This record gives sequence, structure tokens and C-alpha cells, in this order.
Amino acid sequence: MAQRYRPSDLTLIFVILVTIGGLFQTYVSVLTLPRALDEKTSRSYLSISKLTEYIPAPIESFLIENAVKIGFHTNGPQEGCRIWKDPEATSTSVHFQLQLFLEDLNEYNELVDNFKPQFLDLRTQINETSREDICQTVELHKDGLMAVFAKSQQLSLTSAGYVEPLLPPMRHPSFCEIGYKRLLDLNYMVHDFGAMCRSLKATSRVVLFDMGASLQFHGKRGSPAIYLTDLYERFGFPFDHIYAFEIKAKDPGEVFRLLPPKLLSAYHWINVGVSPEPDHPLNPFTILKQRFNKDDLIIVKLDIDTPAVEMPLVRQLLGDDELIELVDQFYFEHHVQLAEMKPYWGKQVEGTVKDSLDLFHELRRKGVAAHFWV
Ligand SMILES: *[C@@H]1O[C@H](CO)[C@@H](O)[C@H](O)[C@H]1NC(C)=O
Repeated sequence: MAQRYRPSDLTLIFVILVTIGGLFQTYVSVLTLPRALDEKTSRSYLSISKLTEYIPAPIESFLIENAVKIGFHTNGPQEGCRIWKDPEATSTSVHFQLQLFLEDLNEYNELVDNFKPQFLDLRTQINETSREDICQTVELHKDGLMAVFAKSQQLSLTSAGYVEPLLPPMRHPSFCEIGYKRLLDLNYMVHDFGAMCRSLKATSRVVLFDMGASLQFHGKRGSPAIYLTDLYERFGFPFDHIYAFEIKAKDPGEVFRLLPPKLLSAYHWINVGVSPEPDHPLNPFTILKQRFNKDDLIIVKLDIDTPAVEMPLVRQLLGDDELIELVDQFYFEHHVQLAEMKPYWGKQVEGTVKDSLDLFHELRRKGVAAHFWV
């Protein structure tokens, strides 16, 4: 005979289920708490390869929520510099926070410039017992990066640690004031090498996929890609593989004359255009998925100046969970209708500044530390 539940039994069962559900949620959120927020759970943080939660800086959240109101979604070009120049574009308090962030950023860059590495390659030092001490040597402040940004507290927390908040004009804010001379200034990006070190293994490979890899374009001032490889190297992450794709035919003698000799052993120069077609041999993500795994530190830079090719690649990344898991840092010059860049980008643009904020925010939310590139 089937047992029948009385209403009071059902209530009890309901209460028990809710309690179990609540406990489970607490358990899950403890597991996913970033180390910086809860020292006691650092072990469980280390055991999962990617944080599932993205915590944007307050100013980034504000801009995402108010993008339409600010005018980042209008017909025709949108002015990214307004938020830096005009307190009324946002609010006096947001404008003030932006200024504080800029002060913190300058201090951060001074620390990066003065950083003296203790190890040429962190991987040769790391094991389960030494990890914390070794990774502490690449921290710019003993209490972590947020302590460097103490005045503004405006950093976003991704699966790869802290990064700069997503801010128009999608490059260094001093470009708004000084113009062309700061067009390629990359010192608006924030890298959390302490956090990257904590997920490094002795067997991890450090890999760069460089799509749009011309070294010539930037002349004497050095290529932005070299800035990136130098930065990682200086913090103890020398590159094992650099896949450099470039569609414009170059004289190989010239390519290897411009290349810093220390990169030669890692450099794969592929002087053809990338294919945006998934699984095509010349789609860089094909090699990435075939040859590398989630223990590797994988950096992808996408700057091919053609929305028709770059957007399918970004959409592929966004829609492919395996790729999301593999790619750690993503640098992408998203060519949208940003008024200040019109003289440089011309008609090769697609979408609005709001679209760009949403895209990068979504990449970060999914677990890729995405940065605007120049
Ligand atoms: C771990 O690495 C440190 C130095 O990085 C070394 O002194 C120590 O012997 C290593 N321990 C083990 C168990 O390999």
C-alpha cells in the first residue's frame, strides 16, 4: 500500500530540501571564493583550474550598466574619452574614482618598471611545497595587487587574478589628453603574475599565439608584441612557443633581423593569413587545441585589423568551452566605432563601444582574462 504524506510531512521535506540546497550553495561559493578574499580556502582555490566567478571593478560595472545613458551605443562614432574629460558624462563620484585609478595605475607601473626578478624561470623552482614562497617573489606588494591599487580599489578579478577594469577609450587614458604619442602606450594593462604563478606547474608551457604579428609596423619604438613577451619574461615566464601569423608578405631576412635573438628558439613565423574557419589547419585555435593543455599558460593576441576575420575568431573562442578553458590571457584590438580612433581605423569597424564593453565583459565572465589591445 502506497504511503501517503500528510501536509506537515511535505512541509518538513521541503524545509530539509531547502536547507540541503542552501548548504550546497555555501559549499560551492566557498570553493569558488578567490584566494584574496578568503585566505583559509587557498588550497581549494588552487585545486580548481579556473575560477567560475568574475568580479568586475565597481567602475566597470557602472559603465556596463550605464553604457546607453553615457552614449556608448549611439548611431555614429562614440566618444570614449568623455568619461575622463567630463564629470557629467558619468557622475562626480565615478569621475573621481577614475582619477584615483589613474594615480594607482601610475604607481603600479613604477613598481613594474623597478621589479627585479629573482628567478629567470619560475617553473624551475615550483613544487607543491615551494609554490607559495616562489610566487610571492613576483608579487608587487606582499598583500597582493589590490594593495597597490589601495586608493581606488578599482581592479577586476578574473580567473587569472586581477586585471584592469574595462574602460573606454579602450587604451591608455592619457591618449585622451596627449593623443597620438600615447596611441600605443600599453601601460594601462594590469597583470597579476602572482596569481598566474600559482596555477603554474613545472611542466607548464608558456605559449603565445600572435595573430597579426608584423614587427615592422611600429618602427623604432618596438613592437607591442615584444612589450608583451618582455613583460612575461621579466616576471619569470619565458616563452616556449610563439606562433606568429602575418598575412602581409615579409622579407624573412628582415623578420629575423627585427626579432630579439632570445625569442628565436620559440618563434614559429607563419607568413600567411589566419583562417577564421573552425578546425582549418591555419586557424590558430586548431594548433592550440591539438598541441596544448590546460596546465599551459596560453596567451592569445588578436590584431588583424579586419572585423570580417577577427570577429568569427572571437565568436569561436566565446562559444567553445574547451578553448575558454585553455586560453588564459586574451589581447584583442576590437575595431568598433570609437570616435577617437576613426582617423586610424577608418571604415574597418563594426559595432559600438557598448558592444565592445559587453564582449570583453562576457569573455571575462566565462573565464578568460581579456584585455583591450592597441
Ligand atoms: C621544492 O623547490 C625548492 C626550491 O624551489 C627546493 O629547495 C626543494 O628542495 C623542492 N622540494 C621538493 C620536494 O622537490
